[in-house]
Amino acid sequence: MPALADKAPLLSVRDLVVEFPTRRGVLRALDKVSFDIAEGEVLGMVGESGAGKSLTGAAIIGLLEPPGRIASGEVWLRGERIDNLPRERMRRLRGRRIGMVFQDPLTSLNPLYTVARQLIETIRTHMDVSDTEARNRAVGLLDRVGIPAAARRIDDYPHHFSGGMRQRVVIALALAAEPELVIADEPTTALDVSVQAQIIDVLKEICAERGASVMLITHDMGVIAETADRVAVLYAGRLAEIGPVRDVIQRAEHPYTAGLMGSIPTLTQTAERLTQIPGSMPRLDAIPKGCAFNPRCPRVLERCRIERPELIAREGGRQVACWLYDREAQDA
Ligand SMILES: Nc1ncnc2c1ncn2[C@@H]1O[C@H](COP(=O)(O)OP(=O)(O)OP(=O)(O)O)[C@@H](O)[C@H]1O
Ligand code: SF4
Ligand SMILES: [Mg+2]
Repeated sequence: MPALADKAPLLSVRDLVVEFPTRRGVLRALDKVSFDIAEGEVLGMVGESGAGKSLTGAAIIGLLEPPGRIASGEVWLRGERIDNLPRERMRRLRGRRIGMVFQDPLTSLNPLYTVARQLIETIRTHMDVSDTEARNRAVGLLDRVGIPAAARRIDDYPHHFSGGMRQRVVIALALAAEPELVIADEPTTALDVSVQAQIIDVLKEICAERGASVMLITHDMGVIAETADRVAVLYAGRLAEIGPVRDVIQRAEHPYTAGLMGSIPTLTQTAERLTQIPGSMPRLDAIPKGCAFNPRCPRVLERCRIERPELIAREGGRQVACWLYDREAQDA
């Protein structure tokens, strides 16, 4: 893969394992997660609370909070391995090559500095431009993300902006150094419903203009349906299914995805599709043997309780971790 850097996907995550050592043993929060993000692609990442979405993002950008750690696996950015970089190099890569947008805009903004100072500092840290040039760029960015009267508002402090406007500022900040990838973790969950779609739209448009790929973490399937090219479904720290968003939504193959899709009111035409999956996702210290979904699965087979299914390649570039699609067993 590294030898073919230009052919490699923008981001490649391979067999990523994240663990938390605790007094009662090691908890495995991500278990061999593998996926790629292509150049310019929007990958949606869904799954119920605690599935490991945020940890996946944090592991990629080197922001796992100790004692959480990458126990094994690899992360490659454009053919360069980045999971084992020294702290300082990782810090520089963050912001420059990977931008971040979190749920709460205030985690990304310093309340003591004007928006101008934060944007200009970010631009000048990563790019060789004059102060005036950096300011012009900053105003242009604010204007692009939809801040009215950007040339004047740039000298305001974060608290002068509404929640939605503040998240636009964060998007401008995340894109200030022209990163190749933006990781957005529930970027609109904390915002008023009326502005959520606008913020997602601006994020998607501006990344598309700049050719930046996006990893969009959310539990909102409606947002994924409208925004993502492909979608990855996580369950109990494992990838259940990944593929083109239309295919996965219209014809989910993994029984868990099928249940998840059945519980999206916005995409549900009839009441009978609103199938609830009985039970709940297991805690990390009680993940069942075999397929993690087996106690809740309506189609469980005997081997599901014993052997863990790996991702199986399906038509159209989809992959599904489920024994129902095991070719050898079907042929037999
Ligand atoms: N510091 C920690 N110590 C132990 N377990 C942790 C720690 N941080 C996270 N976890 C566990 O890792 C799992 C995945 O957490 P993560 O935050 O990635 O979930 P998520 O999919 O982002 O959920 P949400 O939708 O609620 O944001 C959860 O089971 C969580 O309890
Ligand atoms: S592997 Fe078995 S238990 Fe798991 S989703 Fe497929 S059929 Fe259900
Ligand atoms: Mg999360």
